[in-house]
Order: sequence, then structure tokens, then C-alpha cells
Amino acid sequence: MIVFKSVLFVAMIFITSSMADRKLHAELNPGCFEPDHCTSVSKLLYIRADGDNDTVHYLFDFTQKPSLVIVTTANNANILVKYNETQSNVTIKFTKAPFYTFASVFNKMYEFDDVNDTALLNNGKHYLTIDFKKYDWNMNLFKININESVEVNISSNLYRAPSITKTGTVSITLKVYGKKDKGSKLPHLVHTPESGELTLTLDQLSTKFSSSRFAVELLTLSSFPFNKSEKLVAEQFSDDKSSSGTFVTYLMDTKGEEDEEGGGYLSWRPVVYKAANTHALNSSSTAQYTIQDYNSQDNEIDWISTPLYKLYGNELFKNSYLLKATNVSFGEPADGYYAKSNYLYWTFLVGVGAPPSSSLGFLEMSIIASLLLMLTITMILLFCIFMRWMSSKRNSIIYGQ
Ligand SMILES: *[C@@H]1O[C@H](CO)[C@@H](O)[C@H](O)[C@H]1NC(C)=O
Ligand SMILES: *[C@@H]1O[C@H](CO)[C@@H](O)[C@H](O)[C@H]1NC(C)=O
Ligand SMILES: *[C@@H]1O[C@H](CO)[C@@H](O)[C@H](O)[C@H]1NC(C)=O
Ligand SMILES: *[C@@H]1O[C@H](CO)[C@@H](O)[C@H](O)[C@H]1NC(C)=O
Ligand SMILES: *[C@@H]1O[C@H](CO)[C@@H](O)[C@H](O)[C@H]1NC(C)=O
Ligand SMILES: *[C@@H]1O[C@H](CO)[C@@H](O)[C@H](O)[C@H]1NC(C)=O
Ligand SMILES: *[C@@H]1O[C@H](CO)[C@@H](O)[C@H](O)[C@H]1NC(C)=O
Ligand SMILES: *[C@@H]1O[C@H](CO)[C@@H](O)[C@H](O)[C@H]1NC(C)=O
Ligand SMILES: *[C@@H]1O[C@H](CO)[C@@H](O)[C@H](O)[C@H]1NC(C)=O
Repeated sequence: MIVFKSVLFVAMIFITSSMADRKLHAELNPGCFEPDHCTSVSKLLYIRADGDNDTVHYLFDFTQKPSLVIVTTANNANILVKYNETQSNVTIKFTKAPFYTFASVFNKMYEFDDVNDTALLNNGKHYLTIDFKKYDWNMNLFKININESVEVNISSNLYRAPSITKTGTVSITLKVYGKKDKGSKLPHLVHTPESGELTLTLDQLSTKFSSSRFAVELLTLSSFPFNKSEKLVAEQFSDDKSSSGTFVTYLMDTKGEEDEEGGGYLSWRPVVYKAANTHALNSSSTAQYTIQDYNSQDNEIDWISTPLYKLYGNELFKNSYLLKATNVSFGEPADGYYAKSNYLYWTFLVGVGAPPSSSLGFLEMSIIASLLLMLTITMILLFCIFMRWMSSKRNSIIYGQ
């Protein structure tokens, strides 16, 4: 009977785990009834993920700087986008005041001449700054797996700056899933229905220097989930158990007083792949740098080129939001620089709520607990049978039956 119950328990866990936690819906330029007019001023891929108690809205905007904005609202709030065909000022609102907003922006890409092969951005001899907004982004793929996941891929091979000629393709892929799981491909990041997985690829980029490496500058915005007391902190965890090798997870997390979690976060493993086939043998490292404030007057121009300006207008610059920036560079010493592979593939996660830990989750723990229980019961049963057999054998010896 107990064995039957634990079998049933395990079966139930599998059934519940196969149901999505959030229902996904996706569309391009929501509320646009005249595509001819909207597409010239807006490239906004909108995904909503409806849960039991709230809705998570994903705004993947690639009109200028590719950005992912994650907004949480009450259950039945809708997005309202106003397109203005004569002016390129689009505004975005929600029918109910958002609870929380977290965003990540691809701001700039740096090419640096790593003459001493240190793979550190600060040691570059020459630099070239590439502004993500000067790429002309186009959507190649928009795939909806009903109730399960949404995948969007944008790319560009056209860099519109007269002083810089840059050939090759830059692409960014966003994946949003309806339930918590581990990515099927390396680096196997654990995604939740409250996070989006972003992958950047740099394919056949022309290089300006003999020892070129690339780095990206990401901006983050957090709408102060706590008490205006929070900070963005960088942490590192190691978990040798999962994935291959001794990977660590790098986490930039919005935290309140006493390390209160539940704001937004960026998370990645410090690994970059040098082939589309993400295999441990084809990997190199990322290097992380300090988190900086990004709220000075000089930085305003960068924020204006993001969907955050469509959401908040000049309110963005009135100290109402936590505005930060950080660099991540690609490569490690002696890996042959970018030119060796002419390809880079880097994945990270942008999410809200508590960051998923890549250690065993509750589900796996329950399954293991049930299996252990079954094993224990089986052992006890075997032990009982053995004891009976032993005693009957002893009886036969003693009484000669
Ligand atoms: C929704 O709210 C109810 C009541 O507060 C809670 O029991 C439930 O766990 C919540 N569901 C989710 C998915 O958070
Ligand atoms: C578009 O912008 C112009 C100029 O600011 C304004 O007159 C017009 O009403 C706007 N149209 C819409 C639909 O908001
Ligand atoms: C667009 O910008 C103009 C001038 O900056 C402003 O008057 C107008 O209200 C804006 N339109 C929208 C829809 O925000
Ligand atoms: C490279 O190393 C040499 C010798 O150690 C040093 O003189 C030079 O300043 C370094 N170059 C850079 C850009 O760090
Ligand atoms: C998606 O979810 C809706 C609502 O629960 C359901 O009616 C529909 O059958 C689901 N579709 C698929 C393909 O699972
Ligand atoms: C996105 O699409 C481009 C162009 O088709 C392709 O080169 C790139 O590999 C794709 N990105 C990912 C992560 O699949
Ligand atoms: C808000 O922050 C202040 C100062 O950091 C602290 O004293 C206060 O207890 C906080 N309030 C809440 C509700 O967290
Ligand atoms: C590594 O990348 C090369 C191409 O750069 C490819 O031919 C090879 O199959 C990849 N190796 C693995 C183990 O994926
Ligand atoms: C990123 O690196 C570039 C080049 O060294 C530097 O100009 C920029 O200030 C750095 N950004 C941050 C946020 O540290």
C-alpha cells in the first residue's frame, strides 16, 4: 500500500511538472492596426505570460538598442502602445500600474586590441566602440510553441556609421518558457516563467586590430522593488554537480536591506562558445567587471534610445529608477583571440523574482525522496523475508524439521 502511494506520488509530480505555470501569448507591435505606419517607427515584440496571480509582460524592443523589459502587473492588465506615424515617439502604458519593472539593454559593443593576450578589457591598446542602436535590426524568426515557449531571433549585418565599416552578422535570440526547466543546450541555464534567456552571437565580424576581442556593455534598470534602499550586487556560485566542468554561475541581483531578494537579476555562466555547436571543447571564458552607475546627464542619450523612454519619458532621469551598467568581455588568454573562430555565442538570463538556483529544485528533491522511500521499503521487505527465511532455517536446524 505504501509502495503504491509513493508510486502515485511520483506519477503526480510528473503530471504536474508537465503543465505550464504561465500561459504565453506573443505578438509584434501590439495594438498596431496599420502595420505600414507602425513598423517604420516601432519594432516591439511583446510576450505576455499569464499566471494564477499576476501577469509578466516581456517587451523585446529592437527599434534602436535591443532591450528586454520585464514588467509585472495584476492579472488582467493590458499593454497600451501609442504609435505616432509622423513622430517617432511611441509611448507605452499599462491599463494597471505595474508592480515592478526590470530591464536589460544591449548598449555598446567594444572591440579591443589585446596586445598582451590578457583577455581583460582594461588592458586593450586600442578600442573601437560600436553602438547597438546603429545596427539595423530585422526579425528572422518568431516561433510560438503554444503554451510552452516563444522564440524570437533578430539579427543585423548592416552597421550604419560612416566612420566604421563592420561586416559580419550580430544576432540576438530571446526565449521565454511557460515553466521552469533547464536549457537543453549548453550552458544549461535554468529558466523560469519569470525570466527570458538572451543569446548573443557574433558571426564573421570583421576585426580592426590584430589581437581583437569583443566585449558588451549591458545597462540595467530596476524600478525600486523595495524601499529605495536597494543595490545591484554581483555574486558568484559554484555548482560542480550540474553541467560539465567546474562551472560557476555569475549573478547580478537587485537586493534590498538585509539581502532581501525578489527584484530583478541577470545571470550567466562565465563561458562563451566559439561555435554554434555549444560543446565544452569549443568554449572559452567571459570576464566580468564592476557594476557602475549609469545615471549621469551624459548617459541620457543612451537611455532615450531604449523602450524605457517610451515607458517613462523624462521621469527616467529623476532618480526614480536604479540605472546601472556593466561590461562583459569574451575570451581567455591563449585562446587565439576572436579571429581564431570568427564566431562567439553567449547566453544569459534576465529575470524577476528569486533567481533560480541550478542546484536540485523541489521537484527533483521530491522525486529523489520518493525513490529513497521506495528503496527503503523494498529493503525492509527484503529484510523481513530474509529474517523469516533465516528463522525458518534456524528452526529447521534446531528442531530438525
Ligand atoms: C496565488 O496566490 C495564492 C493565494 O495567495 C497562493 O496560494 C498560490 O500559491 C499563488 N500561486 C502562485 C502560482 O504563486
Ligand atoms: C502625432 O504627433 C503629432 C505631433 O506631435 C500630433 O499632432 C498628433 O496628434 C500625434 N498623433 C497621435 C495619433 O498621437
Ligand atoms: C511626440 O513628440 C512631440 C514633440 O516632442 C510631442 O508634442 C507629442 O505629444 C509626442 N507624441 C506622443 C504620442 O507622445
Ligand atoms: C604589454 O606588456 C608590455 C611589457 O610588459 C608593457 O610594456 C605594455 O604596457 C603592455 N601593454 C598594454 C596595452 O598593457
Ligand atoms: C493552451 O492552453 C489553453 C488554456 O489552458 C488550452 O485551452 C489549450 O488547449 C492549450 N493548447 C495546447 C496546444 O496545449
Ligand atoms: C539568429 O538568426 C541568424 C540569421 O539567420 C543566425 O545567424 C543566428 O545563428 C541565429 N541565432 C541563434 C542564437 O540561433
Ligand atoms: C525603508 O528604509 C529605511 C532606511 O533604509 C528603513 O529605516 C525602513 O525601515 C525601511 N522601511 C521598510 C518598510 O522596509
Ligand atoms: C568546434 O567547432 C568546430 C568549428 O569551429 C566544429 O567543426 C567542431 O565540430 C566543434 N567541436 C565540437 C566538439 O563541437
Ligand atoms: C566598459 O568598457 C569601456 C571600454 O573600456 C569603458 O569605456 C566603459 O566605461 C566601461 N563600462 C562600464 C559600465 O564599466
